[in-house]
Amino acid sequence: MEEKNDPSKDVDMNGPLGICDYEGSDYHNRFWDQQGREYEDQVERIALRRLLPPTGGTLIDIGAGFGRLADEFDGYKRVVLFDYSRSLLREAQSRFGDDPRFIFVAGNWYQMPFVGGLFDALVQIRTIHHAADVPALFAELARIARPEGEYVLEFASKRHLKAILRYWLGRQKWSPFSREPLEFVELNFDFHPRWMAGRLIDAGFIPGRALTVSHLRLPLVKKVIPTRLLVKIDSLLQNSARWWQLTPSLFIASRAPASGPTASGDAFFACPACGTILGEVIQGQLSCPNETCHRKWSFQDGLYDFKEPLLDN
Ligand SMILES: C[S@@+](CC[C@H](N)C(=O)[O-])C[C@H]1O[C@@H](n2cnc3c(N)ncnc32)[C@H](O)[C@@H]1O
Repeated sequence: MEEKNDPSKDVDMNGPLGICDYEGSDYHNRFWDQQGREYEDQVERIALRRLLPPTGGTLIDIGAGFGRLADEFDGYKRVVLFDYSRSLLREAQSRFGDDPRFIFVAGNWYQMPFVGGLFDALVQIRTIHHAADVPALFAELARIARPEGEYVLEFASKRHLKAILRYWLGRQKWSPFSREPLEFVELNFDFHPRWMAGRLIDAGFIPGRALTVSHLRLPLVKKVIPTRLLVKIDSLLQNSARWWQLTPSLFIASRAPASGPTASGDAFFACPACGTILGEVIQGQLSCPNETCHRKWSFQDGLYDFKEPLLDN
């Protein structure tokens, strides 16, 4: 059974592409806190350390949630925790808000509120299964990445061993070998590895090293084998991705397109509605200087909020 990070009752279909809205969700407690997922957490951290350059300038964690992995970014000068859920970002802020390297930004990944060529590193773990339009997302990521920046992506694979066995035994109708994404619950997708690599290439990314992760994600195995041993075995097996990729979770590091601008000077935020560069926060607001746009965005208690513009009084 694939994992569902699914607050399905909260799905917000108002956006043009549909957003799986975690606003107010208890994702941390329900999914991670004492839920027997230490194994998954630890093997994901190992994979991330293997693929992410240990140091760098500006990093963005896309769909950072409550900042589960934020302590992996110690070598970066600036770290943006980006998510659609203000409440999860507030939780991240309560853990990392005292560290001036962290910037907390609420917004939609299809309309990133950043200038082009800004990020040296992009990380996206356990989130792209909520993307109904992967090409649109990748186009945004290619835009905000610095030329040749690093993008570490984790995604849920539809071509994993359990799905293959179930398919061969006639217990599952859908084929794990067909390329199209599988929407197993509304706004929850599993992807074929080749399809995902193709979309990265279409967006100008150059897919590089891949790792297979969570080889032993089976309730019985997790029950009887100590987590430390499971983690060791998974760590040894992660590099087998070069021969076969049959795990439910795959990590892939890609190089961003070499062409394109590099963000200059202090430029950082851009209006998500029109793309104009935004200036300083004045009285808790970032105002778009573009006369035909003029939208205002909120900055309150350390959280930049680009989910929707402020209403004019
Ligand atoms: C399963 S959680 C993963 C959180 C974190 N990456 C982790 O591994 O613990 C998925 C996250 O993706 C975010 N998300 C979903 N759709 C989004 C969108 N369109 N823009 C920004 N964030 C989004 C959700 O708010 C949620 O926090």
